[in-house]
Amino acid sequence: MIPETLKTELTARIAAAVTPREAAVDVMKELQRHYGWLTDEAVEEAALLLGLSPLQVEELATFYEMIYRRPVGKRVIHVCDSISCWAMGGEPLMAHLARQLGIEPGQTTPDGVFTLLPCCCLGNCGEAPAMLIGDTLFGRVTPESAAGILDTERKTITTAG
Ligand code: FES
Repeated sequence: MIPETLKTELTARIAAAVTPREAAVDVMKELQRHYGWLTDEAVEEAALLLGLSPLQVEELATFYEMIYRRPVGKRVIHVCDSISCWAMGGEPLMAHLARQLGIEPGQTTPDGVFTLLPCCCLGNCGEAPAMLIGDTLFGRVTPESAAGILDTERKTITTAG
């Protein structure tokens, strides 16, 4: 169940949108932020708020790769596997991250901190290979810089408690 304050805020955002569908991604992202992933309960709540059926919300959710319909770690690492990044070493980067984290792409580390996912173009092709963690976009990522980035992310989580 989401807090009343969040419900009020989302209702206002939906009212300000031209159509409820326009606000759907925003609503799903906020619910995801609240629950950690888009749970079945969140789908029901989004449907109620948006005046859509749960199935319609489900369909929209599967369309966006940044909306997670299963549990993920505290930080989701999206590694771009589109053409520019692929050409600039995206594949070895993904392999390196998987090795470093001890998981396969698509999996979450046993401590629940990182989930590693491939993704489509992040719009950062000029800085390939690129990856996205939370709202932060990283470019020209090397295995060395990736290690530093993961360390920093881990510390951020520890600091946040
Ligand atoms: S191809 Fe990777 S950011 Fe565009």
